[in-house]
Amino acid sequence: GDYGGRYRPQIHFSPPKHFMNDPNGMFRDDQGTWHLYYQYNPTGIVAGNQHWGHATSKDLYHWVNQPIALFPPKKTQYIFSGSAVTDPNNTSGFFPSQKNGVVAIYTLAEYGQDGSPGPQTQAIAYSHDGGYTFTPYEGNPVIPSNSSQFRDPKVVWYKDHWVLVIAYAQEYEIGIFTSPDLKEWKHASNFSHTGLLTLQWECPNLVQMPYLDSDGKKQDDMWLLAISVNPGAPLGGSIAQYYPGHFNGTHFEAVDNAARIADFGKDNYAGQFFYGTPADEPPVYLGWASNWQYTQVVPTGEEGWRSAMTVPRRSYLTKAKRVGWKLVTEPYDLEPVMGAQLASNNSLVNVSLPIDFASVDSNALYWEANITGLPKTGIPDSATLNFTFLAPQTGEFIRGGYYLGGDTPFFIDRGGAQGFDNVFFTDKFSTNSLIDGDSWRMGGIIDRSILEVFLDGGIESATVNYFTTQPLSLMVLSTSGMPKGANVSVSVHALESAWA
Ligand code: FRU
Repeated sequence: GDYGGRYRPQIHFSPPKHFMNDPNGMFRDDQGTWHLYYQYNPTGIVAGNQHWGHATSKDLYHWVNQPIALFPPKKTQYIFSGSAVTDPNNTSGFFPSQKNGVVAIYTLAEYGQDGSPGPQTQAIAYSHDGGYTFTPYEGNPVIPSNSSQFRDPKVVWYKDHWVLVIAYAQEYEIGIFTSPDLKEWKHASNFSHTGLLTLQWECPNLVQMPYLDSDGKKQDDMWLLAISVNPGAPLGGSIAQYYPGHFNGTHFEAVDNAARIADFGKDNYAGQFFYGTPADEPPVYLGWASNWQYTQVVPTGEEGWRSAMTVPRRSYLTKAKRVGWKLVTEPYDLEPVMGAQLASNNSLVNVSLPIDFASVDSNALYWEANITGLPKTGIPDSATLNFTFLAPQTGEFIRGGYYLGGDTPFFIDRGGAQGFDNVFFTDKFSTNSLIDGDSWRMGGIIDRSILEVFLDGGIESATVNYFTTQPLSLMVLSTSGMPKGANVSVSVHALESAWA
């Protein structure tokens, strides 16, 4: 693949060429290597002909593209989304004499000659070489079905058995199955009809999560059920929703019936948590940074590829003051791609700071802004913190900002980019980011065609695709109307290409 294109993210994963969607089968092996598989069309630039592409990484930013891992066994089948686990104790019987066995669990989607959808059944394949090549199990399917809307199995280990969650896609229902050996599956319970129903539920994830209470104190772990919904997301198309809750090995109970959305942008779908993250480290998430509404027509197609993943994100649950339950996500340690500091200012109060980054080869930046010393009450509505990225040749821009007073909304606006004209590519996003105490902070990554923003340590986050006709090369950070006593410190770093 050629990673030099103007839209090609430099610290995000994107496929060497052709079309990619969901992350699949993500696990960490016993050598500390992270494995990412993904929905991949190796012959086209739009969705279809699904295989599992594969890449590996030591640090979650520098990826090595690997040969395709899973191929459809028949012409009339596709390999849809699913998961993978390591089986060091040989529960499956596939690995009598090794510790690094891997089992992939995925949906085999049948298609008729005329392209009409047939049954979606669940199959497994085992790998004797640590996840690089797989052999389909002779006894497939392991979960038979006649439904054309039954897919995306995600497996975890719970105490003494395997647990699989799967979507009955058009019934607003997640099935929970259990197994001793990954081959024989027993239906245990269903989770259904809460939160956003939309049209389809896809790609469920059930994962044990650290839980920090509203004072930031670590409490007993909880569980998270994440469900991707499409179409019909509040902002259009596809997005992920999640439920904090409790899991007893067979049943998941959410803390309430509320719909909570994982991202206030539009471009974060079908995400997964890695299997096999060490027990003393928080779960790591990767999402597909796109939206089914326009993913097949975005202009990266001109460069021969479509779609990237979000940055890897460490995750935990909290019950934030005033806003309640939140899935918190922040970039996984950026150190391996962190470049030179381009600017820093410890009192950016009611002034603008221009940062020319035309000489940064990657065209990718990381920035942080911290506001401290805020009064308990009476922050004026006119108090703002803004960031703008400009393409000086064309006047194109991407911007965002925070109104500290009032209901404290935060906004992102991608409408100043002229590289993509599409009715569903809406351009304004906002969220309420409530100030808790006397400080507030923001972190952001901009990477050629993806912007990711993390508010207040990741309590809110947004993933936003954008397409300019010319590279953005000037950043402006500014504040105005800051209340007395408030201070703002900012820092901007170049990011180093992981693909150069
Ligand atoms: C989600 C999804 C999954 C399916 C896969 C097919 O984006 O529709 O439900 O398994 O994509 O590529």
